[in-house]
Amino acid sequence: MNLVYTHELPVGRAEKEKRLKQKACVIWMTGLSGSGKTTLGLGLEKELFRLGYFVQLLDGDLVRRGINSNLSFSEADRVENIRRIAEVSRLFLESGIITINCFISPTNEIRSMARQIIGPEDFIEVYMNAPLSICEERDSKGLYAKARKGEIHQFTGIDSPFEIPDNPELELKTFEMPIQGTLNKALAFILPKIKLNNY
Ligand code: ADX
Repeated sequence: MNLVYTHELPVGRAEKEKRLKQKACVIWMTGLSGSGKTTLGLGLEKELFRLGYFVQLLDGDLVRRGINSNLSFSEADRVENIRRIAEVSRLFLESGIITINCFISPTNEIRSMARQIIGPEDFIEVYMNAPLSICEERDSKGLYAKARKGEIHQFTGIDSPFEIPDNPELELKTFEMPIQGTLNKALAFILPKIKLNNY
């Protein structure tokens, strides 16, 4: 729907980005549970904020307790989970805000839907690459053990698929590098993209 403003021009994204002195985008981290998405997301949020950027972290565990609390981990509900998050991210984008999204987003279909909703030019897909064996060994939330015992069903990597991204903008092998290393690599990639010209 196109809104027609007869009296005043709306305050658009460009004005908001100028106010915030940044170029907005969506940093979309995909990977298995335990691959380091939230750890890196929190690190990025803290560092970008320290550098003067206005950022918002969106994370599966939190979002699923709030706006998406009615959704399960069925394939259809995972699509709906990501659809809503992508729409929310687009609203942030229009406000000039950089979002850092930490969602398993397990399939190519789901990620390409998110890319389309947000707009390919503003979507930075970051594949957090850690093998299942390592995520399972870490098992920071104890969920892999539960999934193996059959106490949780449709767990990504166990009895629900994770498709490796074909063409992410950035891949971080989180099993080979310390957290600071992945953070530095992510920052080096992202900083030039969020810098507003002339600032
Ligand atoms: S997604 O597949 O729909 O993108 P999302 O990122 O929102 O998943 O949620 C993943 C988080 O939910 C995991 O980090 C984990 O803590 C929790 N979780 C609970 N049940 C499952 C499950 N069956 N599969 C994956 N993650 C689960």
